[in-house]
Amino acid sequence: MPLTPVLTKRFGTNQPWKIDNYEALDGYAGLRKALTLQPDEIIAMVKDSNLRGRGGAGFPTGLKWQFIPQNDGKPHYVVINADEGEPGTCRDLPIMMNDPHSMIEGIIIACYAVRAQNAFVYIRGEAIHAIRRVTGAVREAYAKGYLGTNVLGSGLDFDITVHSGAGAYICGEETALLDSLEGRRGQPRLKPPFPATNGLYDAPTVVNNVGTLASVPYIVLGGADWFKAMGPEGSPGTSIYSLSGRIANPGQYEAPMGTTLRELIAMAGGMSRGKELKFWTPGGSSTPMFTKEHLDVPLDFDAVVKAGSINGTSAVMIFDEDDNVVRAVLKWTQFYEHESCGKCTPCREGTFWLAQILERIVDGHGTVEDIDTLLDACDNINGRAFCALGDGATSPISSSIKYFRDDYLALIPGAGRPAALVGATA
Ligand SMILES: Cc1cc2nc3c(=O)[nH]c(=O)nc-3n(C[C@H](O)[C@H](O)[C@H](O)COP(=O)(O)O)c2cc1C
Ligand code: SF4
Repeated sequence: MPLTPVLTKRFGTNQPWKIDNYEALDGYAGLRKALTLQPDEIIAMVKDSNLRGRGGAGFPTGLKWQFIPQNDGKPHYVVINADEGEPGTCRDLPIMMNDPHSMIEGIIIACYAVRAQNAFVYIRGEAIHAIRRVTGAVREAYAKGYLGTNVLGSGLDFDITVHSGAGAYICGEETALLDSLEGRRGQPRLKPPFPATNGLYDAPTVVNNVGTLASVPYIVLGGADWFKAMGPEGSPGTSIYSLSGRIANPGQYEAPMGTTLRELIAMAGGMSRGKELKFWTPGGSSTPMFTKEHLDVPLDFDAVVKAGSINGTSAVMIFDEDDNVVRAVLKWTQFYEHESCGKCTPCREGTFWLAQILERIVDGHGTVEDIDTLLDACDNINGRAFCALGDGATSPISSSIKYFRDDYLALIPGAGRPAALVGATA
């Protein structure tokens, strides 16, 4: 499977974040074309392309846009989720740093399609470099007439505000993001109602990921059929797989949806230490881990679910035979314990206890019963938490016990093999 640069096609060219360089490589041609079409034609085209949201859940983008009520007399908003907090994920930041105008162009097209004037880009606070880069690009777009009043003579006005979050993982959850954007503490809202009808300031709102919107200009220019020709029918297009861990050349690899880990490892020059693959995540730490048995699973929204995990953010974290799975799971669990927003009891209390038990096991004071207690606690969080953060926190634990129970036993005094045999370096 070859690299297929679409979203990354300008990466590595001369200062691609500058508007003149962007324009020289088809930049804003998608917007010019979009403005010759009716808004509903654009929604139909995006729907036809079967573009699915790149933020994790894979919801069909055109359908989401179609949910925005028309002629309701309310303002409509487009909100861009650039929080990118899922451990291992590094896809939106490279887009914003290398090619911010592709996202901006996608935002303006989305605004036109759903009849919104105002868009807000919510970028995580730690990413000051991206906030500066996107702010600069937005300024350039105003200066060139792609934003502001009477955009390209269309008689329409479009405005983008760049907003810095404060660095909370939960503010990536779309409704917590909206609360945070409104100036409140970022905690998820009860759904329904969904943002499409009651979003920002209680008005119809589209919340889309950076990669989702950056894909839109290419679809408008290339057409739905061109997009659908890449990847499987149910999950077309490309994905930027972010590879990290025990891989020779970590980084972003854009390839058609449905590329396998075996192919990605080959593209990235093999395993970093020549050791054998042990476990990996297909889409970030909140997605159930896979093993070497899953090397040939096509990494797309449907096939990954069929194999027992979630495609998530295509954040592929790779571990080898020397890595201790329980230690890795402990680190992720400590992250979820820290990032739990505290709104609901199963997650607030559950992630605390999960971390306590894992710490006990890793410190060599665990018991065999602790493994069952972990599974029982996961069972009581999964499906009972208020938002998907709670479910995600249980994924690494239950999947690692499913595949690597012996590694847990090895750390429990008197229960199994010495820890040295399963590795203790991670
Ligand atoms: C805890 C949590 C964190 C999330 N973080 C992000 C994020 O950083 N970026 C993102 O685009 N979506 C994130 N999501 C998913 C969003 O809620 C939402 O589905 C997404 O922004 C929709 O955009 P899309 O349809 O373009 O994928 C998160 C969800 C949860 C539950
Ligand atoms: S699951 Fe966790 S993050 Fe989500 S609302 Fe409950 S406490 Fe907050």
